[in-house]
Amino acid sequence: MTQLSAAPKQPAEGARATTDSSKALYGGKSTRRITVRDITTAKERGEKWPMLTAYDAMTASVFDEAGIPVMLVGDSAGNCHLGYETTVPVTLDEMTMLSAAVVRGTSRALIVGDLPFGSYQEGPVQALRSATRLVKEAGVGAVKLEGGERSHRQIELLVESGIPVMAHIGLTPQSVNSMGYRVQGRGEEAAQQLLRDAKAVQDAGAFAVVLELVPAELAAEVTRTLHIPTVGIGAGPETDAQVLVWTDMLGLTGGRVPKFVKKYADLREVMGNAVRAFADDVVGGTFPLEEHSVH
Ligand code: KIV
Repeated sequence: MTQLSAAPKQPAEGARATTDSSKALYGGKSTRRITVRDITTAKERGEKWPMLTAYDAMTASVFDEAGIPVMLVGDSAGNCHLGYETTVPVTLDEMTMLSAAVVRGTSRALIVGDLPFGSYQEGPVQALRSATRLVKEAGVGAVKLEGGERSHRQIELLVESGIPVMAHIGLTPQSVNSMGYRVQGRGEEAAQQLLRDAKAVQDAGAFAVVLELVPAELAAEVTRTLHIPTVGIGAGPETDAQVLVWTDMLGLTGGRVPKFVKKYADLREVMGNAVRAFADDVVGGTFPLEEHSVH
């Protein structure tokens, strides 16, 4: 699908591009694949950047053409793509297949593959074995895993082995059975723990860290404290980057979405209307017409 991907278009009119440098992650001129080094230098320039989840080649190609510089093949695929209730049942085989599709559908974005629950918690060697599959079989440029201090040994070994790691702290959905879906880092003790987690993943060599559902002031403090970029989701406006789950921000997710989501489209309505129009045409005999027929 790589042939579908074209050079990214310039930021939409009114978009908040923080720099007009040709090196900018969003709106920059480069059409080569973005690397973790580009992410590091963006923080040095003070450039903010967008990240979206992606789970299939065709959707990913749309995001790539729009200039989204980093895509996460998140294990949110569990709820948003595979029909599970949570991310917990997602397997490494599933993540490998979805990640490979997203890599094939893109030519510019850095693709980060998520390590699913059970594929790295046993220890660093298991983490390396799992991450190696995502890198070798799917072709991702980096992996993501959940946990701060508790995951620092896994991060260290992956980074030593040449695999860039994006960490993920705050709300970690793979721990839903023990943690629930609650704001993290509220209160002095919890805030100190979040800061320790952030420092631990930076010291272990992570190139970026996702902060999920933490108070905006705390996320701002973490962002000021770390030299690696923070990627916020429900973490206020001061993080270096922002990530959203694509089915939430484009309005495909059915039912309620979290308060921190901004809905930029209503694909559920658009698709539902189109599908009903097709069905009505078939039932009413107005599709196909002569122009859709071959002779
Ligand atoms: O799996 C995922 O989509 C994620 C994002 C919410 C950061 O981890």
